[in-house]
Amino acid sequence: AAVVEHTFVVSQMNVRHLCKETLVTVVNGQLPGPAIEVNEGDSVVVHVVNKSPHNITIHWHGLKQRLNCWADGVPMITQCPIPPNYNFTYRFDVADQEGTLWWHAHVTCLRATLHGAFIIRPRTGASSYPFPKPDKEVPIIIGEWWELDLDELDRRMVDGDFDDNPSGGTMNGKLGDLYSCSGAKKEGFVLDVEPGKTYLLRVINAVLFSECYLKIAGHKFTVVAADANYVSPYSTDVITIAPGETVDALVVADAPPGRYYITALATQPPKPDLQVPKFVTRGIVQYSTSQSSGNGTAPPCSSHEGVGDEAPCVDEPAVAPEMPDQHDTMPSYYFHGNLTSLNRTGLPPVPSRADESMFVTLGVGSVCRRGQSCKRSGSKESIIVATMNNLSFQLPTTTMPLLEAHYHRTGDMDALQELPDRPPATFNFTDRALIPRGPKEGRLEPTSRGSLARRFRHGTVVDIVFQSTAMMQSDSNPMHLHGHDMFVLAQGVGNYDAERDVAKYNLVNPPVRNTVLVPRIGWTAVRFVADNPGVWYVHCHYEFHLSMGMAAIFIVEDGPTEGTSLPAPPSSEFLPCNHAHRLVP
Ligand code: C2O
Repeated sequence: AAVVEHTFVVSQMNVRHLCKETLVTVVNGQLPGPAIEVNEGDSVVVHVVNKSPHNITIHWHGLKQRLNCWADGVPMITQCPIPPNYNFTYRFDVADQEGTLWWHAHVTCLRATLHGAFIIRPRTGASSYPFPKPDKEVPIIIGEWWELDLDELDRRMVDGDFDDNPSGGTMNGKLGDLYSCSGAKKEGFVLDVEPGKTYLLRVINAVLFSECYLKIAGHKFTVVAADANYVSPYSTDVITIAPGETVDALVVADAPPGRYYITALATQPPKPDLQVPKFVTRGIVQYSTSQSSGNGTAPPCSSHEGVGDEAPCVDEPAVAPEMPDQHDTMPSYYFHGNLTSLNRTGLPPVPSRADESMFVTLGVGSVCRRGQSCKRSGSKESIIVATMNNLSFQLPTTTMPLLEAHYHRTGDMDALQELPDRPPATFNFTDRALIPRGPKEGRLEPTSRGSLARRFRHGTVVDIVFQSTAMMQSDSNPMHLHGHDMFVLAQGVGNYDAERDVAKYNLVNPPVRNTVLVPRIGWTAVRFVADNPGVWYVHCHYEFHLSMGMAAIFIVEDGPTEGTSLPAPPSSEFLPCNHAHRLVP
């Protein structure tokens, strides 16, 4: 096993898109940031040098961080944020997972430009992919382009008063030919393929809050992994991917040589019934014509490298895929429901029963602004927050990260409030009338804010049914758990009914994911083993919902035996949040 070492210099840079310079925060001057590529079993060291004006942490999304919660990268939960002009080093091992994950800043909306791929290949020498070896591997990162300052965007989200959309969608950082600057068509991401060859696309949804449909005209995908867990090969012409999720899919270049669009469409719930898509972005899958044509072919579009507006290309036609309707949630429902894990030896079995079970509603509610009393929801003094079991998360004001407080058993942990196993009995989450009609009206349940946490004894098998509610403006919810993968046992539309729905649980080959999509006004049942000691964030991966408080903390206690308790903090690097880190030299 190797040690893979990177230095991430976080800084601000001007990027020119849509005829305009926008100041964005990036890693190593790249957008998306550098990919980390490892083999299973490797160790990773990343030195983060913060030359930006922001407090930063980097989260290794989906990496299990076994016995290493210290490297999880969540501000004030696992570490002090890295202030401007300071360094911090992340060290962790990659074990028992293969496929595509990603990294992103876990600070406000900055993750819209601070992210990159994290690619885990099989252990060197020991094994290989459980599918035919692809001729080439290609990360596809679906992103967004915001002209709005991302700090400002976050402030609006926290205030629950938010009505903004990105200026465009990106594929591997390129805006593509649907977004032109003063009429000049711009080429986006280009994937050059050779006839008959097989490509492994490593697809990552890094956008702030849209599920996406991805298609390539004239081609089919064979999905082979999701969230760095192999799945039984699943053939489909459309991939659905929610923020936080990753999908690995094989594509064979078996169409008549030509140019084909690869298109990502941001989906929207049926209501509000917006006719304009939030964004659609497209790149080109381009067959090499070298073998087929001898007559001096047109020069290819100039260098696709670099950041910013791309070089104009010869405006050659390409075949466009027929996309699902942006309001149709069914392709997503079927895509997620059709995945099963690949049967391989050595996989941990699905526990046959749970020790504890929770039913968690995902909704919105209204709280009074700080220091104000408000008589009714929807009034000026109230703000809309996102909830789990009708409670909205906020970080406690502690002097040290919660993980450290937990490790040292300090009184800071008393600031936490228990996340109940069920919603309150008086809380009406099924009533359609609760759907807010506009940003300022609608009847919202009164709710409250707290530092929600749930403790688990080491090794507890936990069942959670996540229930999306009518309050959620018909949104789905990609729920992400840090430090653990979850077995996705079943999903359904409407309200969960234990009597009826337990029978649907797949205990044989459920897909295993770190992010589970809870369908709009529907539910998803998951099971996981709380066996990784530490303090782990669980939250909706829509940045909008997270900023508004759809989050909680799961505390997994130390186990009784060797190798089941949280090790001491890597001391040299873990100093208190008084900004006493080493200065950038
Ligand atoms: Cu990818 Cu806590 O997030």
